[in-house]
Amino acid sequence: MPRRPNNELSMKRLGLGVLGLGEGRSIISGALNSEFWEVVQLCDLNEAVGRERCHEFNLDCFTTSLAELLANPRVEVVGIYTPDHLHAEHVVRALNAGKHVICTKPFFDDLAQAKSILAAQQASGKAVMVGQSSRFFAPFARQRKHFETGAFGDIITVEAYYNADHRWFLSKPWAKKDAFKWLYGGLSHPVDLVRWYLPDIAEVMGYSSLSKNGRELGLKNADTFQFIYKSASGIPARVSGTYTSPVIPLERDSNMSCILRCANGASQGDYYDLRYAWKLGGQSVVETFEDADDYFFRFGGHSHHAGEYQNYIEYFARCLARQEAPQPGVREGIITVALMQAMEESCATGQPVKLAGLLARHGLEHLLTEGA
Ligand SMILES: NC(=O)c1ccc[n+]([C@@H]2O[C@H](COP(=O)([O-])OP(=O)(O)OC[C@H]3O[C@@H](n4cnc5c(N)ncnc54)[C@H](O)[C@@H]3O)[C@@H](O)[C@H]2O)c1
Repeated sequence: MPRRPNNELSMKRLGLGVLGLGEGRSIISGALNSEFWEVVQLCDLNEAVGRERCHEFNLDCFTTSLAELLANPRVEVVGIYTPDHLHAEHVVRALNAGKHVICTKPFFDDLAQAKSILAAQQASGKAVMVGQSSRFFAPFARQRKHFETGAFGDIITVEAYYNADHRWFLSKPWAKKDAFKWLYGGLSHPVDLVRWYLPDIAEVMGYSSLSKNGRELGLKNADTFQFIYKSASGIPARVSGTYTSPVIPLERDSNMSCILRCANGASQGDYYDLRYAWKLGGQSVVETFEDADDYFFRFGGHSHHAGEYQNYIEYFARCLARQEAPQPGVREGIITVALMQAMEESCATGQPVKLAGLLARHGLEHLLTEGA
């Protein structure tokens, strides 16, 4: 994946409207540094945040009115970066206004909302992409390309985890509401990484808990997770995460990691420190991407990673120019949400949960057999 756009397609700049200006900061930075995009309008209910972003990026296009942003004919694509539980409503409103949508992860957090999103997307015919940023980070993108060469052979198992000391995140007003769930907000990264390799996860079993740290800080839902998956063809996989406790030193471990164990070799993509390790035949190699550090991490230390956003919005722009559907799109996005909901249900019931049954209860079983 190129870090800078190439001009293989003659493309006019796409007009971007950004809704939610906390993490929305990263897509603004990505768009301002991309020759494929133009930032047209910013929107947030919080005027102080709007003023801060306009000052930071030398812009003068802020509104507190989503209706105004959606009525702006120069806004062709809406980037949605509001709190998780508001995504479904905002995706539907943007589609109904005739805009393409890029929605940050998690796509949404309640399967009951899936049908309205599907209907709005089908009625509008507009493109929707879930901003699964990790796919666009150098080590994971390299791991994927390497896997696609076929040299590693069949997958035997996949393991992905995302552990982060995110106690700083709990200062956000929505983080202590009932609606906020790390299972969706945090685990959506490793869940998506596993589904990237094993799109046919069929069953899940797992356990979660709200740690003493999380409880004392006022969290309402679990912050500690361990899950086992089984794919339709019987391949086992694993996902885990913790969010309010210290993490292992980076010299020894990476907060986010994806491990592929395959018939001919094995590979590991590490978020920290931009590392990709692999073993194949007689070769054992550790690749690093330090020269990309400034590209990926532009502000806020390693907590913000605008380079991934620039990569995914440039991928989105190329897809639109080629009239291809960007991935993960609505179907993939809904199945990933369904998997997270199955994980939640397994924790609540202590039983394994089959994805097909859960999708059927929401009238969505056809998604498992339809093409992307
Ligand atoms: N790696 C990633 O892709 C990544 C990283 C961090 C956060 N995120 C996602 O970004 C989203 C936002 O997270 P955040 O950390 O920026 O939270 P945040 O609280 O810092 O920012 C959310 C912003 O949305 C605004 N907002 C709330 N309701 C609104 C409404 N109805 N209309 C307009 N604006 C509204 C708030 O005022 C706030 O400024 C979440 O879904 C989160 O999961 C993704």
